[in-house]
Amino acid sequence: MSNFRQGWWKSNMIKFTVLTLFPEMFAPIQESILKRAQAADLIQIKLVNFRDYAVSKHKNVDDVPYGGGPGMVLKPEPIYAAVRDLPGLQELRQTQSGRKIVLLTPQGRLFNQSLAWELSALDEIVLICGHYEGFDERIRDLADEEVSIGDFVLTGGELGAMVVMDAVSRLIPGVLGESGSCADDSHSQGVLEYPQYTRPPEFEGKPVPEVLVSGHHGNIERWRRKEALRRTFTRRLDLIPALEFLPDDYLLLEELAAEIPEIGAWRGKWEHLRPPKKKRRSLQNPSSREES
Ligand SMILES: C[S@@+](CC[C@H](N)C(=O)[O-])C[C@H]1O[C@@H](n2cnc3c(N)ncnc32)[C@H](O)[C@@H]1O
Repeated sequence: MSNFRQGWWKSNMIKFTVLTLFPEMFAPIQESILKRAQAADLIQIKLVNFRDYAVSKHKNVDDVPYGGGPGMVLKPEPIYAAVRDLPGLQELRQTQSGRKIVLLTPQGRLFNQSLAWELSALDEIVLICGHYEGFDERIRDLADEEVSIGDFVLTGGELGAMVVMDAVSRLIPGVLGESGSCADDSHSQGVLEYPQYTRPPEFEGKPVPEVLVSGHHGNIERWRRKEALRRTFTRRLDLIPALEFLPDDYLLLEELAAEIPEIGAWRGKWEHLRPPKKKRRSLQNPSSREES
């Protein structure tokens, strides 16, 4: 079930604290929507360079791996010291507060919209960015959660931290301006978003679908849901097993299965939604809903 339907909302701001060796990489989040969200105190972003916590003369934060091998490994001391210096750490830990320490690593839980919702319920998220060959294993003990932004390897955790902050921030009420404007986004309700159009009504021989300029809200809603389902079935079959169809999806899915026979192979997932005949007629023609 989508998090929108569960009403998983919070209204206060989220504080992000990022532990990084490259704070200057975070310029992109000082632009556009996240810039406005910070100005409006809906989010707060604090960057901590953990090199400042290195104690050696040359401020070393990495060292060669025990056992040999390529690259350098991040030492535990500077990151432990930076985390221990976070304000209120002890109190927050003791009260099981809404703070989570997240380690960015390709070995972590895959980041997706559902995890973004989960994190958006917190008050503070501490993001630890790795670099070089990664972390000394003992650093993992600091983390409440290990998160990967995909099955690929980046040079550092900074881009991952920005991805997490961006996706989480836009779920905070007020950040996108018009409230609830992420409700129809791809992955918010399990399906991909329907196709969108704006003016002009015709561009290089490609017209906007007639239904969208009809002004008939019932028909527009029906078209959008059907196209969202079509998109999901034609692009992302991997999303279908977890998808919870809505009762009104039955006829849309039957129509799609008639158009694209492969979709019919999934009929077992929506068969239980088959409505009584009378209801089926009203769904085929939304303008007759009141009469039936
Ligand atoms: C070159 S990677 C280290 C990869 C590590 N040797 C491994 O194989 O798991 C350096 C750092 O980039 C970050 N990173 C790389 N890929 C990532 C991903 N897919 N998601 C999140 N962070 C990633 C992590 O912070 C990691 O410590």
